[in-house]
Amino acid sequence: MSDFDYDVLVIGAGPGGYVAAIRAAQLGLKTACAEGRETLGGTCLNVGCIPSKAMLHASEYFEAAAGGAMAKMGIKVKPELDLDTMHGQRKDAVKGLTGGIEFLFKKNKVDWLKGYAKFTSADTVEVAGKAVRAKNIIIATGSSVTPLPGVEVDNAKGVIVDSTGALELAKVPGHMVVIGGGVIGLELGSVWRRLGAKVTCIEFLDQILPGMDGDVRKEANKIFKKQGIEFKLKTKVTKAEVKGKKAVLTLEPAAGGDAETLEADVVLVSIGRRPNTDGLALDKAGLSVNKRGQIETDHDFRTNVPGIWAIGDVVPGPMLAHKAEDEGIACAENIAGLTGIVNHDVIPSVVYTMPEIAGVGLTEEAAKERGEVKVGKFPMLANSRAKTNHEPDGFVKVIADAKSDRVLGVWCIASVAGTMIAQAAQAMEFGATSEDIAYTCHAHPTHSEAVKEAAMAVTGKPIHI
Ligand code: FAD
Ligand code: NAI
Repeated sequence: MSDFDYDVLVIGAGPGGYVAAIRAAQLGLKTACAEGRETLGGTCLNVGCIPSKAMLHASEYFEAAAGGAMAKMGIKVKPELDLDTMHGQRKDAVKGLTGGIEFLFKKNKVDWLKGYAKFTSADTVEVAGKAVRAKNIIIATGSSVTPLPGVEVDNAKGVIVDSTGALELAKVPGHMVVIGGGVIGLELGSVWRRLGAKVTCIEFLDQILPGMDGDVRKEANKIFKKQGIEFKLKTKVTKAEVKGKKAVLTLEPAAGGDAETLEADVVLVSIGRRPNTDGLALDKAGLSVNKRGQIETDHDFRTNVPGIWAIGDVVPGPMLAHKAEDEGIACAENIAGLTGIVNHDVIPSVVYTMPEIAGVGLTEEAAKERGEVKVGKFPMLANSRAKTNHEPDGFVKVIADAKSDRVLGVWCIASVAGTMIAQAAQAMEFGATSEDIAYTCHAHPTHSEAVKEAAMAVTGKPIHI
C-alpha cells in the first residue's frame, strides 16, 4: 500500500487546474483537486472569460438595435435595456458552466477537496484542516488583480471597482473611467459604452494594447475612438478619492508635469494581474518565486522541487485560459510518463470587442528584430462577406520569413477575428508558408478569405485589391 493519499493533487480548479485533474484521472491516476472558491472553474468561468463574454454578447445586440446597425438592414426596433435580465443571463451562463465542471469531476472520479491548500512539506498540503499527501502536486492557483497604489478598489460600494465589480454594476454609469488600455479595460469599457456610458480610458504608455502588433494597436485605437471611447495616453492616475457616489481622480502626464482632476461615476482598475502565491506557504515545500511573483518551471512544467509542478497564470507566459488548459493537459501527461508539450510560440490571443482583435506568433516589430521578413496585408473592406455584413473595419496581416516564407505571425481585426485566428495558429503549428495558406481553398463568402488574400499579398498578388 502506498503512503500517498493521491497520485496527483491539483491546487486550484481554474482552466489550468480542472483540466489537469480531469486528464490525470483519465490517464488512470488517483486525483484530487483543492479549490477554495464555492464553485469550480476558477477566474475564467466565475469572474473572467465567461461572464465578460456574456455581457459583451448581450451589449453587442443592444448596440446593434440602439445604434442603427439593425435599422440599416431594415429591422427597425427601439430597444429598452433590462439590465437585471442581462445580468441574469450572465449568471445563468456561469452557473451552467461551473456546474458542468462539477459533473465532469464526478464523472472522472476527481475528488474535490473544498478549501484553500497550503504546503506543510514538499509532498503534503493542508486543506480545511486535513493533511493530504500526494506523489505529485500541481500548483494552478492562477492570478488576481494588480492593485494600484492610491486607488482603492471596493466592489461592494461599486464606485472604484476591478473587473469583478465592473461585471456586476447595478446601473449604467454616466461616466466610467477605465485605468489601463489593455484587454480588460477595452472589453468591459466597450460593454458599458454600448449600454450608454461615456467611457474615458487612461493608459500609461503611448499606445493601447501592449504586446500586440504595432499596426493593430494604432488601428484599434482609431476604431475605439470612432466608437466614442476617449483616450488619455501617456497619462497616470496618482490618486482617487470617493466623494459620495462619485470618484475624483488625480491624473498626471506619465513623464511628470501638471496634475489635473477628472470626475467619474465608476472607475475600473485594470492595469494587469499578478500570480496567486500568498497563503500557499511555498517555503515549506522548498519553492520560491521570481521577481514577477511567478513560479518558474522547465519545459515539462516541473518546478525545482521533484514532484511539484506548476501551470497557468501562476507561471511565466501569457495569462490566458487556453494556455492554462493546454499546460494542464501536457503536465498531466508528463506526470503519467507520456510526452506532454505546449508550443509557447503559437498561443493565439483575442480581444472580444467589436470588431475582435486577434493575433498569433510574432508581431512585425519582433519578427524584424530576428531577420528579414515579408508582410502581406488585406483590408476587411475588400472582403465580400464583411462588406455585405456592414463590417468594414480592420485588416488581416501575415508576416513571413523573407527567405523560407514560413509564417511567423498573423494579426487580424475583424468581427470574427477570434475564429479566424484558429486557422492561422494551426497553419503555424504545421510549419506552413504563406504560399501554403494562399493556395488553400477557402469557402466563399467568408471573413476567412481575408486570411488567404493577406497570404497572397505576401508575394504581392491578392485578387480583390
Ligand atoms: P484561475 O482561473 O485564476 O484559477 C485558479 C483557481 O485557484 C481559483 O479558482 C482560486 O480560487 C484557486 N486557488 C488559488 N489559491 C488556492 C489555494 N491555495 N488553494 C485552493 N485553491 C486556490 N482568458 C482568455 O483566454 N480568454 C478570455 O476571454 C479571458 N477573459 C478574461 C476576462 C476577465 C475579466 C479576466 C479577469 C480574465 C480573463 N481571462 C481570459 C484570463 C483567464 O481567466 C485566466 O488566464 C485563466 O483563468 C487562468 O487559469 P488558471 O487555471 O491558471 O487560474
Ligand atoms: P493588460 O496587461 O492587458 O493591460 C493593462 C494595461 O494597463 C496596459 O496597457 C498597461 O500599460 C496599463 N497600465 C499599467 N499600469 C498603469 C497605470 N498605473 N496607469 C495607467 N495604465 C497602466 O491587463 P488587464 O487588462 O488588467 O488584463 C489582465 C490579463 O487578463 C491580461 O493580461 C489577459 O491575459 C487576461 N485577459 C484576457 C482576456 C482575453 O483573452 N480576451 C480578457 C481579459 C483579460
